[in-house]
Amino acid sequence: MYDNECECEYNHIPFVVKGEVSVALEIKCQCQCAEESDQDKYTRISEIIDEYKDKEGSLIQILHLAQGIYGHIPLELQKFIAQRLEIPLSQISGVVTFYSFFSTQPRGENTIKVCLGTACYVRGGKKILDQLIELLKVQVGDTTADGKFTLEVMRCIGACGLAPAISINDEVYKQVNPDKLQSILKEFGEVKK
Ligand code: FES
Repeated sequence: MYDNECECEYNHIPFVVKGEVSVALEIKCQCQCAEESDQDKYTRISEIIDEYKDKEGSLIQILHLAQGIYGHIPLELQKFIAQRLEIPLSQISGVVTFYSFFSTQPRGENTIKVCLGTACYVRGGKKILDQLIELLKVQVGDTTADGKFTLEVMRCIGACGLAPAISINDEVYKQVNPDKLQSILKEFGEVKK
């Protein structure tokens, strides 16, 4: 086991290289995940479809895996999956749009969700959302230009007593106010103005 293992799904072989600036030696991974072409991704998705297509109720599983490989499920990919499964595109689109964990747009490194349930809404959730729209310069459903954040809204997450609440990735932040929001965002790096 290597200290610096990459988190990709492949077995990889770390190797030692000289850092360009510091000349310090560092361990690099030879895996090529980040450079995988769209064609390679489609090939992998195609293999998954072959594996699952005859199993009952496998559409959601296929879409999950496809999103894991491609990052999101744009229309072109929906068409490809529909064709390979020999089902109508509307069936794929219906599932992708129904479940919030599927996205048709590229997602950011971090997903911020603002609760707009009743308690959060009346205690300032909408103002928090407006502040995020202004700070991040995105609309709901969009991703920042630097790919760092995707902004979404959600319904009650069970933290009503400490509203307003937001979540970033899997963490819930309660009693959020404008100052607290700024410091939360700083945990994820400076927000470009
Ligand atoms: S309404 Fe936001 S946590 Fe319940």
